[in-house]
Amino acid sequence: MSFTIWFTGLSGAGKTTLSRRVYLEIRRRSLRAELLDGDIIRCNFSQELGFTRRDRDINVRRIGFVSYLLTKNDVISVVAAIAPYAEARAQNRRLIGRYVEVFCDCPLEVVERRDVKGLYARARAGEIPNFTGVSDPYEPPEAPEVVVRTDRETVEESTRKVLGYLEEQGLLP
Ligand code: PPS
Ligand code: ADP
Ligand code: MG
Repeated sequence: MSFTIWFTGLSGAGKTTLSRRVYLEIRRRSLRAELLDGDIIRCNFSQELGFTRRDRDINVRRIGFVSYLLTKNDVISVVAAIAPYAEARAQNRRLIGRYVEVFCDCPLEVVERRDVKGLYARARAGEIPNFTGVSDPYEPPEAPEVVVRTDRETVEESTRKVLGYLEEQGLLP
């Protein structure tokens, strides 16, 4: 039985890092999976979209629909996308059914200090409008299946926590 696992959180919270690790571990167990990272989706599938609420909702629904198709066809969909709006996440949850939400929780000051891609500095300088956490909202999940506190846990610990949940639920052998 397949499922979608969606890593949500601020830019720099750890979505790409953790989703890749979990994806590789799923593949190592000989299961079929696909990795959908917001950054890559936006280069190949959502090129025309920006970061207004409308555009984010379209992007998040698009990723949700692809995940629904993959999941229906026994391919595990591993998603790393900010998905800042609770309503769009809830719509995907309803559509997909077997849906696991992982909240990559990390305070803004920490992701800003990490500034993995230098985007926060640019957003603070006013060069990037609608930047999540700076000039655009992020609605934290109210009932995520898993919460990883990436400012307090190592990458290894957070990965183990997610895989542990999937094993407990019988979603991974
Ligand atoms: S969303 O809200 O789910 O549609 O966003 P997503 O598709 O995940 O795209 C997030 C990546 O886009 C880059 N980026 C921005 N993020 C947030 N706000 C603004 N304005 C923005 N502009 C560009 C950034 O690299 C995000 O990737 P991550 O991995 O989160 O850092
Ligand atoms: P995102 O895709 O959410 O923007 P990234 O995965 O690109 O985030 O960046 C997260 C950064 O935080 C990486 O440099 C990663 O090594 C670091 N990090 C530290 N602790 C953790 C953790 N527990 N989980 C995920 N990333 C972590
Ligand atoms: Mg990323």
